[in-house]
Amino acid sequence: MLLVTGGAGYIGSHATRALREAGHDVVVYDDLSEGFEDAVLGAPLVVADILDTETLAKTLREHRVQAVLHFAARCYVGESMEKPDLYWRINRDGTRSLLRAMETAGVDKLVFSSTCAVYGIPDEVPMEEDLPHRPLSVYGETKSAMEGEIAEAPVEAVVFRYFNAAGASPDGVLGERHDPETHLIPLALRAARAGGTLTVNGDDYETPDGTCIRDYIHVVDLADAHVRGVERLLAGGEGLTANLGSGRGNSVLEILDACEAVTGKPLARTIGPRRPGDPPALYARADRAKDLLGWEPEHTDIRTIVDHAWRALRD
Ligand SMILES: NC(=O)c1ccc[n+]([C@@H]2O[C@H](COP(=O)([O-])OP(=O)(O)OC[C@H]3O[C@@H](n4cnc5c(N)ncnc54)[C@H](O)[C@@H]3O)[C@@H](O)[C@H]2O)c1
Repeated sequence: MLLVTGGAGYIGSHATRALREAGHDVVVYDDLSEGFEDAVLGAPLVVADILDTETLAKTLREHRVQAVLHFAARCYVGESMEKPDLYWRINRDGTRSLLRAMETAGVDKLVFSSTCAVYGIPDEVPMEEDLPHRPLSVYGETKSAMEGEIAEAPVEAVVFRYFNAAGASPDGVLGERHDPETHLIPLALRAARAGGTLTVNGDDYETPDGTCIRDYIHVVDLADAHVRGVERLLAGGEGLTANLGSGRGNSVLEILDACEAVTGKPLARTIGPRRPGDPPALYARADRAKDLLGWEPEHTDIRTIVDHAWRALRD
């Protein structure tokens, strides 16, 4: 049995589905503050707070959990600067609560959701796992701090640093439902559908078309990496830290063009000022996950990623 915290959220729900399809029993633990009950697709769901160590330990024991995948967190960079206390409470204290519950219940295998935000603005791209941590946001700081504490905890851990999670399940069943939505692809798809305008934050960066380049990684590929990561731990394998990215980048304008092509609707753009702290280009070196887990993203074409996001787009 596996416990998935945050399994009613965007990435956690795709991982829960992939784990069950791979034959694992899963119990989801989520307070539904950002997630949706229907996204667990019938998996057992415990609705409780990650800070509730007692309920966590009880759930681990009652379900005879062997390993935990920890997605539950607050994950908006902007919000983390406005409400740092909330981020330290949920992301740091919540992870500490989970580690205590695991120790109490004798569970010592953990897959942890980290982020490329731990690197800040790197000196070079593609970004390797050994780059120093220089997070620019409280969000990135909380994840970097938890990577450090997990390394010291009595657990074998697979730590994944995701780049920009994107897309949705190709059958349209699961998708991205963040509120507020801050991710470019759903924002652009909604703007195209409504005949609205999207603001591009700066077009004078040192990139081929002047707009920022980011590494978009399909959420189904992320889910697949989690299946491989937890199976490595269950088989007695060692922990690891690995980037999960496609290894290449797409510019903002390339994304907007893909959204126009997929929706068949014109997408008006205005050029706004740069966002402070936005680096020109971020993309992963993703060889380590390939070497250690045999993981290779399948859906790397940006049109495919946008098409899947479009099929699953709700309100
Ligand atoms: N989306 C991305 O591009 C991205 C990139 C890097 C890392 N991550 C990390 O991946 C993980 C999942 O991200 P997501 O995009 O799926 O976010 P999400 O908000 O869709 O999912 C988070 C889930 O955690 C639950 N949750 C939040 N606080 C909780 C609490 N106190 N107790 C119990 N459950 C709680 C929410 O209800 C939600 O279902 C996070 O840890 C995030 O930091 C996401």
